[in-house]
Amino acid sequence: MRVITKIHEMQTEMKKLKSQSKSIGFVPTMGFLHEGHLTLIKKARQDNDVVVLSIFVNPLQFGPTEDFSTYPRDFSRDKSLAECKGVDILFYPSAEEMYPQPTSVKIIVQERTDVLCGKSRPGHFDGVAAVLTKLFNIVMPTRAYFGKKDAQQVAVVEGLISDFNFPIELIPVDIVREEDGLAKSSRNVNLLPEERVQATALYHSLIAAKAEIDKGVRNPNTIKTLVTNMIASETKGEIDYVEVYSYPQLKTVETLSGTIIIALAVKFSKVRLIDNFIIEVEA
Ligand code: PAJ
Repeated sequence: MRVITKIHEMQTEMKKLKSQSKSIGFVPTMGFLHEGHLTLIKKARQDNDVVVLSIFVNPLQFGPTEDFSTYPRDFSRDKSLAECKGVDILFYPSAEEMYPQPTSVKIIVQERTDVLCGKSRPGHFDGVAAVLTKLFNIVMPTRAYFGKKDAQQVAVVEGLISDFNFPIELIPVDIVREEDGLAKSSRNVNLLPEERVQATALYHSLIAAKAEIDKGVRNPNTIKTLVTNMIASETKGEIDYVEVYSYPQLKTVETLSGTIIIALAVKFSKVRLIDNFIIEVEA
């Protein structure tokens, strides 16, 4: 595995691989790798000749009061994991390399961001779109892999790729969970022990919601109330949102039918966790 930290070196290497008609699978991450990331790498490994992993904690996508400084980092561990999982090239740029000066062009994501994380994290998806535009132009992948844990991010990336004609196939990958159901996240290490126990309520509330839908409930407010009440009674976390929308449009629905998302975000003392179920509902 090669570790590359410079953009021009990365582009030279990628151009060489493309001239040899190699397919390139790209997994963008902010590091502190866990089973979720490793599943994206595994999928990329199965589908492509070359696998590129990027690790970059992107300052542009963190708000001023968010956890940029406490975001967990462990490059040497990440490097061994990446090597073990068959990554060919690890792109690991510094912030100075990626943003030597403020960019003269700003990307503003205007659709699908007035809800969920976009609403409670203003500017977050603009920062995600900016870094991905750079990374797509640096890596020039055939396919890019994103987890459905960040379902709104998948919806935004779908818009970015199609609006700006990136010749890239977006591959969404299912959420990977801990044995007790908590969605794997680099941020889980910043939960206090009692919060880690309580955090399983997020998954349990989604399971309970799905069970109600399976029984025939079609009112989105009934589902929202059920999820909200379960999280409020089983955790000390502060609910940021519990929402039910159509997916991937992220529009309010009067009644549940077609593809819907039940999405939630809960703030614990040092971390904000998100989770969701995307469900096919028969009318
Ligand atoms: P990060 O949070 O490191 O996540 C990298 C990728 O791993 C994302 O596509 C995310 O959805 C996926 N992922 C994380 N946890 C997962 C889980 N439990 N199951 C399945 N996939 C999971 O998302 C980002 O980084 C950044 O916004 C990034 C796209 C790299 C842009 O900076």
